[in-house]
Amino acid sequence: MDTVNKYNSKFIRQLVKENAVHRDIYVDPTIFQLEIEKIFSQAWIYIGHESQIPETGCYVRSRIADREIILVRDTEEKVRVLLNKCPHRGSSICRSRTGQVKMFRCPYHNWSFRPNGTLLNIPHLEGYGPKFDMENSAYAMTSIPRVESYRGFVFASLAADGPDLVDYLGPMTLPLDNITDRSPSGLLKLVKGTFRQSYRGNWKFHMENANDLVHPVRVHESAIDAARLVSGSSQISDQDPAPVQMMKSNGIPFSRWDDVGVHGFPQGHCYMGSFYTEGTISSSREDPVFRTYKDLLVNRLGHERTEEVLSMERYNNLIYPNLSINASFQQIRVIRPVTVDRTIVESGCFELIGAPKEMLHTSIQFLSAVNSPASLISSDDLEIFDRCQAGLKVDGIDWLDLSRGMGQDILGENGEKTAKGTSELPLRTQLNSWLSYMTAEN
Ligand code: FES
Ligand SMILES: [Fe+2]
Repeated sequence: MDTVNKYNSKFIRQLVKENAVHRDIYVDPTIFQLEIEKIFSQAWIYIGHESQIPETGCYVRSRIADREIILVRDTEEKVRVLLNKCPHRGSSICRSRTGQVKMFRCPYHNWSFRPNGTLLNIPHLEGYGPKFDMENSAYAMTSIPRVESYRGFVFASLAADGPDLVDYLGPMTLPLDNITDRSPSGLLKLVKGTFRQSYRGNWKFHMENANDLVHPVRVHESAIDAARLVSGSSQISDQDPAPVQMMKSNGIPFSRWDDVGVHGFPQGHCYMGSFYTEGTISSSREDPVFRTYKDLLVNRLGHERTEEVLSMERYNNLIYPNLSINASFQQIRVIRPVTVDRTIVESGCFELIGAPKEMLHTSIQFLSAVNSPASLISSDDLEIFDRCQAGLKVDGIDWLDLSRGMGQDILGENGEKTAKGTSELPLRTQLNSWLSYMTAEN
């Protein structure tokens, strides 16, 4: 059977059953290429936040599907996404991750481009003869066809057609609204110094793990034990440093994880409830810094809306296929697939502009404790993803079970399904969406 025929919709459909998934979807390089084509080149993919490009010429290098791109603010203040590729001979143009330019200059033959991508100058122009047209779009850096921003979060799609961003996000506009509305000025700023970690495993492992509430007690056992040891107690206390409280919270029993709950939507988006329900990391904290912050928020939003914003207990909001938002601690995580067995995780946090500086310190503390390369939490998870990849790439076990909590979902509005926290509902939700993208006729 040749490759083209083998990877047809019928074949792909057979890889995901209601209660199990075939290991091929994590280890087969051809399936990974199909994912790049049918998911990451079709869906709206998060590129960056507008606060990263506050002025004309500010740019950030990023990725969409298998392409390098540049998010840039042009001279008309418009946010653009350009391919990081010279139209002359194909060299990449930008090497720095971020910066500010008057023009982009190719390192090969020095063609230069305005921040909107149009051609500005060519050395030895006379060599091209009098008919050479500088305005010809073939000589401009390529613009990504669709770029939209929601509350400052910039997404792009390589597909010329498709749903607009708000329709695509559907119920997941809520966490983006919530994280933004937590700012007393209504403005967020991405803190410089995003962490980038890579692991030797498939990109889906990270998304599937984020709302898997049975894993923490085992995978993060050493961190839980260490936290209990340094504080001398397993109880969560206001006296513990915040990271200790966070790590202890991972050790709650399954009955409490069940109460946290998990949720999934037909678009593949998922979220879980909050498990930080005690101590100074809970939404009911009442310390002086938080009271000052709350007063500032009330000035802008009023009492009722402030209570509504601060009481939203949604954690690890997963926007399919690769974005995770934690509004309560202003965290963002983006999963960038590189190859079938290599993935980069970018993690950062936002400053709530106008809030007391201590609020920013809490966010940075959270980022360091949970998402940094030195974190006791993310290092555990990445180690497990490496192990899963190593295990799945060899023959032996072909079908991976997905049945935990199956048949117990409660159906709500907008197709939202809710289940006990220990259910694998989020995993099944993501794989259903995976199947829809992978079998769609584009
Ligand atoms: S490849 Fe860019 S100027 Fe020649
Ligand atoms: Fe984990």
